[in-house]
Amino acid sequence: MSVVTSSIVASATSDPYNLGLSPQLEAYRSGVREQFGSTVTPLNVALLVVLLTFTYYRLIRPYNAASQTLHVNKDQPIVFQTFTPRTLLKFNGLPNPPLNPDGKVYLAVKGKVHDVTSGRNFYGPGGPYENFAGRDATRGLACQSFDEDMLTKNLDGPLDDCSDLGADQLENLQGWVERFDEKYLVVGKLVAYNKNQVHGM
Ligand code: HEM
Repeated sequence: MSVVTSSIVASATSDPYNLGLSPQLEAYRSGVREQFGSTVTPLNVALLVVLLTFTYYRLIRPYNAASQTLHVNKDQPIVFQTFTPRTLLKFNGLPNPPLNPDGKVYLAVKGKVHDVTSGRNFYGPGGPYENFAGRDATRGLACQSFDEDMLTKNLDGPLDDCSDLGADQLENLQGWVERFDEKYLVVGKLVAYNKNQVHGM
């Protein structure tokens, strides 16, 4: 093709009025057609479609989905905090100054405290799962139960280590852990109250 192109350039400079160029131009154009025709084959088009689809689903879509489901508010920095069952209780969806003036809803699953405020319909006051608001929801989720005794009674006692749960309940719990990790931001960890230690909150 470069031979054809250079001969066109040579002819163009030697023949500025474009006389007698048609056969060369025609040769050039058929050369381009040939080159282009051999690139745009059904197989290459199919490969391009597969490549674009793969790029979209592996790279672009997960990023969009994550930022949509996590409800990240870029204006508010996330401060990772340490909660005890008692301080966590302040985050039950009702305004609770000074710790929770905005009435945020937090709950803990397996030691991780999630901000579930965007799921206020579920966990906020009057919601179907309001019993978990401001609480360690681990046992209740594992056992699929809203019973009072699923929740840690003594807020200043040890955390529920759930060591008595069976395989089905643990599997169930793992499903919830994955769901919460995917949907809600982790804002801190839950630790037992220790009277000898000054907690961050
Ligand atoms: C009669 C039984 C139940 C029904 C009909 C029911 C119905 C639902 C529905 C429709 C959703 C929304 C799903 C979605 O759009 O993502 C949901 C979510 C949920 N359910 Fe239930 N549920 C039932 C029992 C339970 C039980 C026993 C528990 C645990 C103790 C539970 C905990 C949850 C949680 C934690 C969510 C997730 C909310 C979120 O995405 O933050 N549900 N349920």
